[in-house]
Parts: sequence; C-alpha cells; structure tokens
Amino acid sequence: MASYVYVKSPDNENLWVLGELVATTKTNADVKFFNEVNSVDLSLYPNSELPRANVDPATSKLLIYPDLAKVPFLHEPGILFNLKERNRLGEPYSFCGGELVVAVNPYEWLNHKYTENIQKMYSNVLRDSIIGFEPHVYYTSSLCYQSLVKTGRNQSILVSGESGAGKTETVKILLRHVAYLSEMSSSTTTTTTNTNTNTNTNTTTNNNNIVKKIVDTNPLLEAFGNAKTVRNDNSSRFGKFIRLQFSSSQLVGSSCSTYLLEKSRVVSHSENERSFHIFYELLAASPIPFLSDHQDFNYLSSNIENEMAETIEGETNTERWAKTKNALALIDIAGEQLTTLVRALVTVLQVSERSGGG
Ligand SMILES: Nc1ncnc2c1ncn2[C@@H]1O[C@H](COP(=O)(O)OP(=O)(O)OP(=O)(O)O)[C@@H](O)[C@H]1O
Ligand SMILES: [Mg+2]
Repeated sequence: MASYVYVKSPDNENLWVLGELVATTKTNADVKFFNEVNSVDLSLYPNSELPRANVDPATSKLLIYPDLAKVPFLHEPGILFNLKERNRLGEPYSFCGGELVVAVNPYEWLNHKYTENIQKMYSNVLRDSIIGFEPHVYYTSSLCYQSLVKTGRNQSILVSGESGAGKTETVKILLRHVAYLSEMSSSTTTTTTNTNTNTNTNTTTNNNNIVKKIVDTNPLLEAFGNAKTVRNDNSSRFGKFIRLQFSSSQLVGSSCSTYLLEKSRVVSHSENERSFHIFYELLAASPIPFLSDHQDFNYLSSNIENEMAETIEGETNTERWAKTKNALALIDIAGEQLTTLVRALVTVLQVSERSGGG
C-alpha cells in the first residue's frame, strides 16, 4: 500500500508538497511528487525522517479534520494541509482542541456562514465540548458571552495573526455576534418573565445601537489609522482594545482604546503603499474649502494620481469619505468642528508642500 509524506518544496523551503514515498535509505528518500521521482536529502528533516502525511492509504485521499487536535500526524505540514483543504472546501474555520479557533482568510464573503440562523445555532455552546458544533468564531463569542453571564467575571477574546490575516474583520464578526446573543437573552428573559414588552424593545434597541455605533464608527478609525500596504489594502496601522460593558447579561456600553499608531507613515511610506486613507479621502472630497486642486504634496507621493484612483475594499475615496463623515457625525463632530478638523489635516498636507517633504 502506498505511503505518503510531506517534503519541502525544492523551489522554496517554506512550502510543503505532498508526495508518495517510493524508497528510502538512511540518508535519502525517493519521493514521487510533481509527477516524477525526486531524491530527498533526509538530513534536512528532524531525526532524518520525513513527516508522514494524513492520507487514507485505501483511497489515497487526504484525511481532513474539523479539529486540528485530532489530526493523527500533527506537525507543521499536517496542520497547513488540513487548513488549506478545509478552506478549499468552503470551511475557513477549524477548532484547535476547543476554545481556540483557527481562521483562514477566505478572501471572499461566505455570507451563509453569518446568517441569523447560524448565529442562533451558536447561542448555547458548552465549555469543554465542541461536539455537535462546526468550527466557527461564533463558538468563541458564545463561550465568552456565556461565561460572562454565568460567572459575572470579565472575559477576553484575543484575535491575533499576521497582517492581512483577517483580524479586523473577525473582530467585527465577533462583536455583532455578542450583540446578537445579548439581544436574544433580553427577548428570552422578557418572554419567560412576561414583563413589560417595552423594556424588551428598549434593551434590544440599546444593544443594536451600541454595536451599530461601534461598527459604524469603524470607518473613522480606519480612515485615520489604516493604510494600504503591500500585504493589505486596508491594513490597521495601530492597535485597538475594545471593551464591551454589560450589566447582568445586557450590553450597556463600550469603549475603545487605540495605541501604537504608526505615525511615521504621515511623512513617508514605501513604494506601492499609501499614507493614511484620510488624506486621499480628503483630496477626493469636493469641495474642500482650503485646498486647491493640483497641489503637489510630498507627504503623499509623486504617484498621487494612481493612488487616488485606487479603491479600498471596492470603495472609492469619495465613497469612503462619505462614511468617514457619517462616523464623525455619530460622535458629534460636524459643522464647525468638522471644518476645524479638515483644516488641521489640510495644514499637514500643506506643510509637506512648503518644506519639500523634509
Ligand atoms: N471573514 C472574512 N471573509 C471574507 N473576507 C475577509 C474575511 N476576513 C478578512 N477578509 C478580507 O481580507 C482583508 C484583510 O483583512 P483584515 O483587514 O481584517 O486583516 P488584518 O488581520 O486586520 O490585517 P492588518 O494587521 O494589516 O490590519 C479584508 O479587507 C477582507 O477583504
Ligand atoms: Mg486590521
């Protein structure tokens, strides 16, 4: 029966390929991949052994597990192949033993994964048991919410990953789910205790409003704190700590602290990257009272026309400016205050013009 292994790609040692083991000696192995038999130097592998692949010998098909902890041969290529194959099948999420969920960025919106029905399915998850649940970040948000309600103690969700992994989007998905759970619990409480329906409506509206505010003010944070980088068109160039405040099981408030803003990006950025979105949004907005059309701002780039033409997440600078203005209005920055803010931003650009970018 055929035996399968993972080998490092001959072109790039950071990539793994799946191959069929043909023969092996103490120092070398013959492995068939890319349709030919290749000699592999075993000294490049720990204990001079090739990592075994999770392949069903009877069918020669990869074995895929929703929970990474269940992968029989657990090593780097085993995990990567499992995640890759699941994502190919439309499953971007995998469990890692329980509370930990690994998300692969699918780079396309899988709307059926975030419907109200799916949110509801994850409203009652159990600690220590993922049985009956498909991997999803809703499992994490639900566990977090339920632990909060049951224990009355603070809970945290940590979303981490490299640039472009999908942290910012995942946080939004989690926030909406926590709001949904809180909203559901207020409806349940009202139904079972049969108290005033108006209270329920008010609480529900309140939950919605708080999360709507958090999500709707996001364009503001993104305008001033996000920029196009070579890895992500909408890269957060700052850290963010969002705190949701609950009274019993009800969402009653929130706060957001930001830190580590990459301020140096205001004065310079690498080729093929951009400064913070807000500057392009401003230039696209018309009319801006203090700005003439064709000024050459050194803090942006000589390639400004191309940069201006770029869309971020499918939205033009003008469309994004409209959202930023709405977000500013949500926190009561409009009218004269907005004019002052615009004036300050324009001044930054004009400084770069006068000083020649120094
Ligand atoms: N769950 C998802 N479904 C579909 N597309 C997604 C999802 N998560 C992220 N994306 C896509 O990937 C892009 C990058 O994601 P995001 O901005 O969340 O990355 P990030 O981890 O916050 O990166 P950075 O550290 O640079 O801020 C998004 O703009 C979006 O197009
Ligand atoms: Mg981000």
